[in-house]
Amino acid sequence: MLHQINEHIWFLEADYRSDRPALGYIRGERMAFAVDAGASRAHVELFYKELQMRGLPLPAFTGISHYHWDHSYGAAFVHGVTLASDRCADQLRREAEWHWTPEEMANRLKAGQDILFGYHSKLAEYPDPSVIRVTAPDIALEGSAEFDLGGVSVQVIDCGGPHSDDHLIFFIPEERFLFLGDASGKELFTLKWDYDPRHPEQLQDILAGLPFNQAKLRPFVDRLEKLDFDHCLFAHADRIWSREELLGDLRSHLIS
Ligand SMILES: [Fe+2]
Ligand SMILES: [Fe+2]
Repeated sequence: MLHQINEHIWFLEADYRSDRPALGYIRGERMAFAVDAGASRAHVELFYKELQMRGLPLPAFTGISHYHWDHSYGAAFVHGVTLASDRCADQLRREAEWHWTPEEMANRLKAGQDILFGYHSKLAEYPDPSVIRVTAPDIALEGSAEFDLGGVSVQVIDCGGPHSDDHLIFFIPEERFLFLGDASGKELFTLKWDYDPRHPEQLQDILAGLPFNQAKLRPFVDRLEKLDFDHCLFAHADRIWSREELLGDLRSHLIS
């Protein structure tokens, strides 16, 4: 379901069943900007159907927060221009070469190119994984950028952080709102952890018990503290968080 947050911002809610993230949408007078390309063609189509039902224009730009499949594998199906960080673009170019047979998927899991959670989530999203189509973004950003949509703008900030080194976040200064993607999360590819694929609803509790990469968390928190936002959305959360909630939570994980 699509939710309106304020005059300029909406989001399609996340869906834990196949780890679909929330998709953001910022509408200006001249054009609209989407946050994240989503997990698949079906995910993009659901998003656009909801936009069209409300008479909202399709996005001219879609910013991909980071390379993880749930945020990027819908890129081939989005309207307009896609952009991501240069590291994200490099990784998606590599993944575009991958084959989606059961054997190749199992091999990547064994080789550490995928994790158990990603493996099962993709199977939940794609009943037939052979239809997966990975594509690199149209624009590979070096550093940050700003988009003036007409009366509202999006600052695309290259921030890295504790979840993945290629991460972008999206700040809307006029609304003092921040789309975080997964940037404030744990580094799931380098941690040892397990979960029961029959119970994806338990995932967020399991992740809450994992440690942060401290060397990456501290500069990330310092960076967020300098940003003038009041509210934010983490891509796999079920509600908007306040600045105080987010920074308080992240600070509580800092080990001095
Ligand atoms: Fe992620
Ligand atoms: Fe994610």
